[in-house]
Amino acid sequence: MLRFSSSLPVDCRLWRYDIRGSLAHVEMLGAQSIIPTEDANTIAAGLRELEGRLERGELGFAEADDEDIHSFVERELTQKIGPVAGKLHTARSRNDQIALDVRLYLKDALRAAQTEVRALQAALIARADEHFDAILPGYTHLQRAQPVLLSHHLLAYFWMLQRDFERLEECFARADVLPLGAAALAGTTFPIDRQRVAKALGFARVSRNSLDTVADRDHLLESVSALSLVALHLSRLGEELVLWSAPEWGFVRLADRFSTGSSIMPQKRNPDSMELVRGKAARVFGDFSALWSLVKGLPLTYNRDLQEDKEPLFDAFDTVIASLQISRGVIETATFNAEKMRSVAGGGFATATDVADYLVRRGIPFREAHEITGAAVRLCENTNRELWDLTLEEWKELDARFDEGVLESVKVEGSVAGRQSEGGTAPQRVREQLEEARTLLAG
Ligand code: ARG
Repeated sequence: MLRFSSSLPVDCRLWRYDIRGSLAHVEMLGAQSIIPTEDANTIAAGLRELEGRLERGELGFAEADDEDIHSFVERELTQKIGPVAGKLHTARSRNDQIALDVRLYLKDALRAAQTEVRALQAALIARADEHFDAILPGYTHLQRAQPVLLSHHLLAYFWMLQRDFERLEECFARADVLPLGAAALAGTTFPIDRQRVAKALGFARVSRNSLDTVADRDHLLESVSALSLVALHLSRLGEELVLWSAPEWGFVRLADRFSTGSSIMPQKRNPDSMELVRGKAARVFGDFSALWSLVKGLPLTYNRDLQEDKEPLFDAFDTVIASLQISRGVIETATFNAEKMRSVAGGGFATATDVADYLVRRGIPFREAHEITGAAVRLCENTNRELWDLTLEEWKELDARFDEGVLESVKVEGSVAGRQSEGGTAPQRVREQLEEARTLLAG
């Protein structure tokens, strides 16, 4: 049963938070004369000594057979300072204690994830700036649709990550609430000062209902939900880089340290880094699913089931933070092949919409313009040519209303430059977008 029920191998990584929370608690117990100041000082000194030993690696968790990190700390403390250690747990329960430890962890973990999101955003901005004018096909249905700037494409990921950053910020605000003082579930008979503890531990607020406080896991669920979206975005980036690095695309070459060779096929250069980023998203969705299933239908208040929340929580943060770091490394070191991109950007009649738009500007209804352009595409297909290969005479034969303007409209650069609507791919618009992204990052 001890082996089945022990959470120490998982929650030992909360030791810093557990000790920090105990230090704030015992200081308050002393200040409120709930225990003698002298005892509070002895306990605090003992906790600091234990903290030092753990910090220096003089003490580990491997041999311990305690049920959880709280029992571990209390046992070590008792060994050092004797029975007075037993006063630390006055006006407290492991139920509000674990809630505290996890909130302290969560606040740090959210900040760490945000830092990595910012770093990847910065890398995307840098590469977008560097390859500002490069043009590649934009796709719908994975069919070449209209040419776009590579900078525009890279910045699309900036905005996904910007929403992720904001979601993590919102998660932080709701995690930033002190649960300690709820005790087992109903509060305590001792005159505790929760505001004092909140201030000492850097919490913005104190929780309002003791029952909700020890039962609540919303902040874990919503954080892992936000992380699932980060992982989902990275999996899409991963998929694109995998496609783009295939020789058939050849848009990008991942740096050696983010690729691997095959043990039997010497010609291969596998984009394992981004395949794994794509695959790791599945783990995170599993963590998300585990947490949701865990809490569903649980009666108030604390139930031991809740001990199972830590593994998926830690795994989701570890996995997403690592995936962000790898993605950043890949983006920073990738070699983009602008020539290859440009060579296929206009192919597949990617500027057909521009011909139709040109006719519309000459007063022809869009539906009719669409039809005329369709005939031009068929002519090119039958004669194995691209739109820019057609002569003005051929255009005029298709429709008398064509003039030399059509020869400009089929050009890739013109197609991109023409998309000047807000949020469009015209260089001027993307330049503004880049500046806005920079401002957000600096803010
Ligand atoms: N190890 C427990 C957890 O992680 C701590 C709280 C245990 N409380 C209790 N009454 N058994 O959830």
